[in-house]
Amino acid sequence: MIYFDNAATTMLKPPGVAEAVAAAIGAFGGVGRGVHGASLDAGMTVFQARRKLSDLFGGPGAKRVAFASNATEALNVALFGLMQPGDHAVTTAASHNSVLRPLFRLQDAGTADVSVVPIGSDGSLDYGAFDAAFRPNTRLAAVTHASNLTGDVYDIACLAEIAHAHGALLVVDAAQTAGVVPIDMAKDRLDVVCFTGHKSLFGPQGTGGLVVAEGVDVAPLKVGGSGTHSYDREHPAFMPERLEAGTLNAHGIAGLLAGLIYIEGKGIDALRAEALALATRFADGVRAIPGVKLYGGGGAGRTGIVALNVDDADSSLVADMLNVDFGICTRAGAHCAPLMHEALGTETQGAVRFSFSHLNTAEEIDAGIRAVTEIAGELR
Ligand code: ALA
Repeated sequence: MIYFDNAATTMLKPPGVAEAVAAAIGAFGGVGRGVHGASLDAGMTVFQARRKLSDLFGGPGAKRVAFASNATEALNVALFGLMQPGDHAVTTAASHNSVLRPLFRLQDAGTADVSVVPIGSDGSLDYGAFDAAFRPNTRLAAVTHASNLTGDVYDIACLAEIAHAHGALLVVDAAQTAGVVPIDMAKDRLDVVCFTGHKSLFGPQGTGGLVVAEGVDVAPLKVGGSGTHSYDREHPAFMPERLEAGTLNAHGIAGLLAGLIYIEGKGIDALRAEALALATRFADGVRAIPGVKLYGGGGAGRTGIVALNVDDADSSLVADMLNVDFGICTRAGAHCAPLMHEALGTETQGAVRFSFSHLNTAEEIDAGIRAVTEIAGELR
């Protein structure tokens, strides 16, 4: 099997991740739920993971890193915790449903208004149109750092500058970039960065969270068990407990920590360069195949994604042929990115997304090129 679905979940994990989860499952108690060794060991691992995440994102320190089960949950926490009745939010058509649906829910409930800045048919964002979307009551802009469909990267430093010029906050969906594109909250003045653990951070599914800049107060979405201040009627007001409720997934976070240590060792620039080299090799190999159309390229950079279609064949058919005939895993369909598909004109056909990790090989890429060549020949 050849795994090219790393933008959904990195299945190929570096050495140490699975071992860390297995060791934690047999050794950890609940974080903050006891003073015995099993609980303290879990607490120490979770603290180290918070610290490494803050370091990775140029964040304000371990205490400002709250865990959630994935980027979608983290974005729900951030958006519902920041938006207030009467507020307005700006987003872009490149957003995943993890941004769109919380904002549309607020809009549909009549409590907030939302503006969606269009994306060009090449995946590009018009920063002037983004600027023009702000209103006096705009509380925040919630933007994806990179499209999960095309891999186009957007300039979050520029978007933060625009948002701040309007007195608004910038919430970044870093699901596709955390671990593979540098993020510097302090330098770029990002207010909230939401990440998931199971993609380029190489952690297990069920890990993720948000890093919140100093001075930004996110109201809790969930309240309940906190392990401390149990006689108070209200959930603790201090970070990170403010945004976490119930026993943390310390077993998963142990695996995430192993992923973070691996990233630190390899270096994010090397990881990105290797994934991009593979993506470029693939794109160069399929671009000239008759009937193949590639998408995106209008961003300020790329992640290791190549999205394509073969003539007007349904993307699910092509992905099925890749899977059944060649053992190649990709993702077809809408990718939870409906407005991006509308922008690209692929809302009916969908697109076949190949997403690479540095753990893929050049031989796999070449097998992918041969498979697309054969499928395109067959479908013509
Ligand atoms: N959002 C993930 C993807 O793009 C699941 O596939």
